[in-house]
Amino acid sequence: MELEVCVGSSCHLKGSQDVIAELQKILKKYELEDVVTLKASFCLGRCAQGVTVRSDDKLITGFTPENAEDKFLTEIYPFVTF
Ligand code: FES
Repeated sequence: MELEVCVGSSCHLKGSQDVIAELQKILKKYELEDVVTLKASFCLGRCAQGVTVRSDDKLITGFTPENAEDKFLTEIYPFVTF
């Protein structure tokens, strides 16, 4: 599975680098580093709702470092295939 974090200008200003750092920690915590690939993406078209993350074909908006683990566990983790 791939997770793409938007680093377009709007999401960048809203802290996408911090979201990426947090997601790296989360993947490590749940031992998913070999299963989930983390990438950066250009604008995903949801700038007003960023930080935006694409998980396969799904766009998840409103990521912050603080809510990243909750969002990961509810919106991404159930769809991880091992
Ligand atoms: S800059 Fe992230 S969705 Fe547009």
